[in-house]
Amino acid sequence: MKNIVIFASGNGTNAQCIAEYFKDRNDVRIPLLLCNKKNAYVFERARNLGIPSRLVTREEFHSDSLTEELLRIPADLIVLAGFLWLVPEKMVRAFPKRIVNIHPALLPKYGGKGMYGDRVHEAVIEAKEKQSGITIHLIDEEYDKGTTLFQATCPVEVSDTPDSLAQKIHQLEHRHFPEVIDRYLNTL
Ligand code: GAR
Repeated sequence: MKNIVIFASGNGTNAQCIAEYFKDRNDVRIPLLLCNKKNAYVFERARNLGIPSRLVTREEFHSDSLTEELLRIPADLIVLAGFLWLVPEKMVRAFPKRIVNIHPALLPKYGGKGMYGDRVHEAVIEAKEKQSGITIHLIDEEYDKGTTLFQATCPVEVSDTPDSLAQKIHQLEHRHFPEVIDRYLNTL
């Protein structure tokens, strides 16, 4: 049995897709979802999916006790599904090559601190890029710098707005993220 712990910050569409993808599997389960935003819609999704979830404060996130709890579960893979805090070094060291993030652009461009959600799509459109996409990568101590596991692209049309581009990116994420996680889990 492999355990995936999900971290999210907001809406949670990726968390839901991952949970639905694995729901009939008896070799993978999601014992915990943690979110750092009090009223995030992802809590409602977790309730509907029957996944235990709770709020994580910044203090707890940086505490030894959270890393110890994740080691006790034990989390085979930590999935950052739209999670917007930098993972503390201690947690990265405790889970080497076992923390996966999804980024809504083609890294190494449009990554780094402050680059999340619509800000990424605004920057891509502003720069008149012809294509954007998603990057699924391992986390190391620096923002958006770990080994890339997977990228997929989509065209950016002149008529695209940050909202329409976000929709295209979400479609790519929902189609690929669960499968990439599944394939990666098999290598662990
Ligand atoms: C996703 O598009 C994800 O790529 C992005 O947040 C969104 C969360 O959507 N993550 C980042 O920007 C991380 N830098 P969701 O809550 O509906 O899954």
